[in-house]
Amino acid sequence: MLWLAQAFLAISLVEAQSTPYGNTTNPSNNGSIPVALSNATSPPFYPSPWGDGTGDGWAEAYEKAHAFVRQLTLLEKVNLTTGVGWEGEACVGNVGEIPRLGFRSLCMQDSPLGIRFADYVSAFTSGGTIAASWDRGEWYRRGYQMGMEHRQKGVDVQLGPVVGPLGRNPKGGRNWEGFSPDPVLSGIAVAQTVRGIQDAGVIACTKHYILNEQEHFRQPGNFEDFGFVDAISSNIDDKTLHELYLWPFADAVRAGTGSIMCSYNKINNSQGCQNSYLQNYILKGELGFQGFIMSDWDAQHSGVASSFAGMDMSMPGDTDFDSGLSFWGANLTLSVINGTVPEWRVDDMAVRIMAAYYFVGRDTAQVPVNFNSWSLDTFGYRHAFAQTGYGLINEHVDVRDEHAMAIRTAAAKSTVLLKNNGVLPLTGREKFTAVFGDDSTENPYGPNGCPDHGCDNGTLAMGWGSGTAFYPYLVTPLEAIKNELVPQGRVVQSVVDNWAYDQITALAKQASVAIVFVNSDSGEGYITVDGNMGDRNNLTVWQDGEQLIKNVSASCNNTVVVIHSVGPVLVDSWYESENITAILWAGLPGEQSGNSIADVLYGRVNPGGKIPFTFGRQASDYGPDLIYEPTNGHDSPQDNFEEGVFIDYRAFDKNDITPIYEFGFGLSYTTFSYSDLNVQKVEAGPYTPTTGMTGAAPVLGNSSTDPADYQWPANLTYVKQYIYPYLNSTDGKTASNDSEYGLNYTWPEGATDSSPQPRIAAGGAPGGNPQLWDVLFSVTASITNNGTIPGDEVPQLYISLGGPDDPKVALRNFDRLSIQPGQSATFTADITRRDVSNWDTVSQNWVISNHTKTVYVGSSSRTLPLSAKLQF
Ligand code: NOJ
Repeated sequence: MLWLAQAFLAISLVEAQSTPYGNTTNPSNNGSIPVALSNATSPPFYPSPWGDGTGDGWAEAYEKAHAFVRQLTLLEKVNLTTGVGWEGEACVGNVGEIPRLGFRSLCMQDSPLGIRFADYVSAFTSGGTIAASWDRGEWYRRGYQMGMEHRQKGVDVQLGPVVGPLGRNPKGGRNWEGFSPDPVLSGIAVAQTVRGIQDAGVIACTKHYILNEQEHFRQPGNFEDFGFVDAISSNIDDKTLHELYLWPFADAVRAGTGSIMCSYNKINNSQGCQNSYLQNYILKGELGFQGFIMSDWDAQHSGVASSFAGMDMSMPGDTDFDSGLSFWGANLTLSVINGTVPEWRVDDMAVRIMAAYYFVGRDTAQVPVNFNSWSLDTFGYRHAFAQTGYGLINEHVDVRDEHAMAIRTAAAKSTVLLKNNGVLPLTGREKFTAVFGDDSTENPYGPNGCPDHGCDNGTLAMGWGSGTAFYPYLVTPLEAIKNELVPQGRVVQSVVDNWAYDQITALAKQASVAIVFVNSDSGEGYITVDGNMGDRNNLTVWQDGEQLIKNVSASCNNTVVVIHSVGPVLVDSWYESENITAILWAGLPGEQSGNSIADVLYGRVNPGGKIPFTFGRQASDYGPDLIYEPTNGHDSPQDNFEEGVFIDYRAFDKNDITPIYEFGFGLSYTTFSYSDLNVQKVEAGPYTPTTGMTGAAPVLGNSSTDPADYQWPANLTYVKQYIYPYLNSTDGKTASNDSEYGLNYTWPEGATDSSPQPRIAAGGAPGGNPQLWDVLFSVTASITNNGTIPGDEVPQLYISLGGPDDPKVALRNFDRLSIQPGQSATFTADITRRDVSNWDTVSQNWVISNHTKTVYVGSSSRTLPLSAKLQF
């Protein structure tokens, strides 16, 4: 038990010297903007709030969860909370089972864009790409279809969607797994995705909470060049936390996400998964989160401290992959029976897990797990690490349904037309089409030929890492273009070696149209591709792509460029060339890549996507760079989020930097005009801070404290390195291997208190105080299609909050409208209280400032033809 005591010491040392997040001020800015500083600390907050079923649909789920957990022994509760260890069962994470009740081990499976490590699944459009559709219906549909696939493979928890990283810097390796650096776009996308996944009967796990904005140093570890370096600390102030990074998490909680994954990084120098302020106070307190917090894989660094700090499930359960040791498991059993952790806290963990289970209807939706992450073979070992339990492990169930068509449509709707000199759409009657680029063709190793897609071979349709899925096939752009043109008797040829300069020039010279495909990749930090350790080293296109574009466009005056990328790339040196007649951003489209781009190129789909980030002139335009080298020796690199809420377009606006293509920009094959802005005030009454007290923590069990009752069952078939809840001895001291077992421990103040607690003023329901969603204004505008073909337009509503520390404009609402030629459609959008509020660090609540507020409506963050002052 010594390590438990040490864990306490660590948290009391870190948290004792803490200051509330809002108290740090920036001396260089009249002290008005709170900034994040090196060595920032995180205040303690205890006890961990127990779930109480507040919020739509949760009360019934809680009733069922309480009834279920009441029947459980302590060992069974511990089993629900602790993973069995890496590669212990079929999924990337499994908790223990409860055989007495016929309750099988819960299965957690990546990823945010489909099912990782399984055959006969779909590879959906990535989050950062489908964000560009600005289409609530597409987000929901994708979530639902992904959920259905997980459900049919037997998965209980889909490890997605992602809103952390949000995308503070475009080089962040995993930005593409999430949606957009804009919190409102991300917030609406994540809420729709959560609803979709959970309506399919699968628990969504929104991740990574929070400020997991880069891959370098995300975890403590040994680095070739630097030796040991502790996990990076993202240092944040209270205002930026609320107004930017927490915002989409609040939307996910409000949408009912059953689970949230705490992140690898530290926040204000306190580990993500044992940060009591962020987990207890913010997430379970202020945001009223009713589901469970699951650790990222090996992001747990303590036993007792993480229990008190609000973590509910340890993944994958072992301290290090396959160590056979666990911070929880038997140690959690011991910490309850020796009185260190009160049983109500473990009950709350189990209740939260089961409440999420009932909330999404797992009790009626569950099917047996019919795949195995560690092998595609039909027969193999159930326990892959232990190499035991040989039998049927993969039934190869095809769960794809009709999803391919939806993926094709979604990716085409997410494609953004950045430049068009009138050459697009192509007619298909072009006499000679030449296709260029390694990015137009197939990975020579096959679409799944590189582990976790950790290579940049062939056309790019997803990034790399755990956020991936196996492709059932990958329709390449080259084959789709050939399918388009060959039946019509056209000439179509390609050069896919980007370095074959002579052949490229020779072919480009003959072409009536040249289509050049380039890409830029990134992924998760455990894989390095071409020197990029997850994060991108720069924003240029890969594989000599810039030279390829220049070589082709030097010889063909009708060159169309298609970019497949994880985010913005630098286009400054070529985008203005007259020979480059069109540019499309197609993002990471997923399995139907070629078909989707052909639909847009040949005009079956009129592009309506808008870029969900900014294309800048140079990497430095985006503000602070990622941290690529230790800043603090072996201690945690200090990553100070000093730019506050000014990331992406807010940074460009603030610093008066002209982007190349601004956030929200995207052309169409038709044109639209905006008129008739109308703003109606809606009476909502005053905002009432939440008051009163919670109930006491429910008592659901009163387990024996005698170690003799927790011994290994006689008939158990032991699986090597598997994590169990049982004790090795009837003597606590021996079982814990702790000479101080049973002596006095010190708890963080309030950690064991189960009495009613004050409710939080800014809280009151999942997502925060429900009155934040009161509608204060209703806005309409008229959008007219001035062209001759039908098209989609995305009117965007921005607000200037008017204060000196506010972004020039901030996105607050949008809609995607299909409009017939010559017709007008009405854009209707609400403005909520939350939309016009700032976070006030003193009152710890949202307030509407006295500054004059203006609403804007237009087609991008910089084309805002309609505006009006908001009259409160
Ligand atoms: C670590 C990643 O950060 C997380 O996103 C993923 O779900 C787990 N590994 C499991 O693969």
